[in-house]
Amino acid sequence: MAGSLSPGDKPTGDDTVDDSAPGDVDTANGPRDAYPVSGLPALVAVDNRVGIPALQGTPRFTGPSTPTNNYFNLSYWYARAMNPMNKPLLRVLAGEPVWPPPIWLMRQAGRYLPEYRATRAQAGDFIALCTSPALACEVTLQPIRRFRFDGAILFSDILILPWALGQGLAYKEGEGPVMPPLRDAAGIAALDPARVAAAVAPVMETVSRVRAELLAEGFDTTALIGFAGAPFTVACYMVEGHGSRDFAAVRGLAYADPALFARLIDTLTDATIAYLAMQADAGAEVLMLFDTWAGLLPPSQFRAHVIGPIDKIVRALRQRCPGIPIIAFPRLAGLMLGEFVRATGVDAVGVDASADMRVAAETVSSSVALQGNLDPLALVAGGPALDTQAHAILSAMRGRPFVFNLGHGIVPQTPIDHVARLTELVRAG
Ligand code: CP3
Repeated sequence: MAGSLSPGDKPTGDDTVDDSAPGDVDTANGPRDAYPVSGLPALVAVDNRVGIPALQGTPRFTGPSTPTNNYFNLSYWYARAMNPMNKPLLRVLAGEPVWPPPIWLMRQAGRYLPEYRATRAQAGDFIALCTSPALACEVTLQPIRRFRFDGAILFSDILILPWALGQGLAYKEGEGPVMPPLRDAAGIAALDPARVAAAVAPVMETVSRVRAELLAEGFDTTALIGFAGAPFTVACYMVEGHGSRDFAAVRGLAYADPALFARLIDTLTDATIAYLAMQADAGAEVLMLFDTWAGLLPPSQFRAHVIGPIDKIVRALRQRCPGIPIIAFPRLAGLMLGEFVRATGVDAVGVDASADMRVAAETVSSSVALQGNLDPLALVAGGPALDTQAHAILSAMRGRPFVFNLGHGIVPQTPIDHVARLTELVRAG
C-alpha cells in the first residue's frame, strides 16, 4: 500500500507501492536495512515487560507518505512488535495451544551455518565472540534470518557465568570447554559475585541489541530467549574442569562433602538469579535454564541439586521479573519429569529425545507447555526418517501448549536444507 512503512523501508518520501503488512519481511532475499530511528533500541530495552493490549486488526493509515503518516504507521508497527500476543512462543508459554506450534532449535546458532563459522573466525576466540555485543548479536540473528524461528536465543554459553565469577575458562578446538577444576573450600570462596555485573555487561548489551535488531529487521513475531545453565550442570564443568561422560568428580564430591557442595550450588543459584534478572531487564522475553546433566542423578540427589536450586531460581524470578516465562530443560529427567514440573512451577519444560511425548503429556499438567523433542540425528538424516519422527511429535502434541524443538542441541554436521524442511513441515502443522 502506498505510504505504508515496513520495517527496513527508509522514509524517503518517494515510497513505491508496498502491499506488505507491517512486520512482513521477505526472508528469501535476506534482511532489509535497519529502520533508521534513533532512540528505538532504548525504548525496546526499557519497555520489555510492559504488555500492550491486543492491536491485531487495527487499521493502518494508508494515505500518502508524509512524515506524520509514516510516524503513525511506525508507532503501530512498534506497538504490534511489543505486543506479546503477536509472538506464538509467548502465547504458548502463557498456556495457549497455538497451532501450528512455534519452533526454534537448541544451538540454532552454530557451526552448521557457514555464516557462523565466518563470524567465529573473525572473533578468533569463543569467549571473545560471547563478549562482543556486535558479533554475538550477529550470530544470534543468523538462524532467524534463514528460518524466521519463533525464538531467538541469546548467543552466549552457560559457562560465561562461572567465568564471570572468576573461574578460568578456555574453549579448546575439538575438546570443548576447559576450566581449572574447583574442588575445595578455598576455590569456592574465591568465586566473587561482586565481579559478575561488570563481566557480563557485554552480554547484557548483546541482549538489548538483539531485541532492537529483531524489531529493526522485521522479526516482530520472534521472541528473545535469555538463558543460563542450571546450577548442577554448571557445577559439573566447574568441578570436573572439562566435559565428561559421567561427571564422576562432581557426583563424588556431592556425596563426600555435602556442605561444601551445597555452598557451591548456593553461590551458583544466587548468581544465576541475578544474571537472569539482568537479562530480563536488558530485554529478554523468555528465560531458559539448561540442566544438561540432571539425568545423571538418582532421585534424592536430583531433588537436592536439580529441583531445589531451580525452584529457588523460579521463585526469585517471579518476584524480581513478574510475568516473564521460564523454560527449564532437565535433560534425561525420565520418571522425575512430573515431579520436577510440579515442584518448580516452570511455565514450560524441555523434553529430551529419550522421552515419549505422549507419556510426557500425561505426566505434565496441560497448562504447562512441553518443548521438544526431535532427535538431532533425525535432523541430520533428513528424508523419510525426519518426516516420520517430526510428524509423530506433532500428532502427539496437537491440542496442547507445545513448542517444537530438538531433544538436544543441533549438531555441526546438520545439513541446512534439512532444517529448512523441518521448519516447513512444522509450519504446515
Ligand atoms: O544457539 C544457541 O543455542 C545459543 C548459544 C548456546 C551455546 N551453548 C553456544 C555454543 C547455548 C544456549 C549453549 C548452552 C550450553 N553450553 C550447554 C547446555 C545445552 C547443551 O547443549 O547441553 C552446555 C552444556 C554448554 C557447554 C559447552 N559449550 C560445551 C560442552 C561446548 C563444547 C561442545 C560443542 O558443542 O562445541 C560449548 C561450546 C559452544 N557453545 C559452541 C557453541 C555454538 C561451539 C563453540 C565453537 O564455535 O567452537
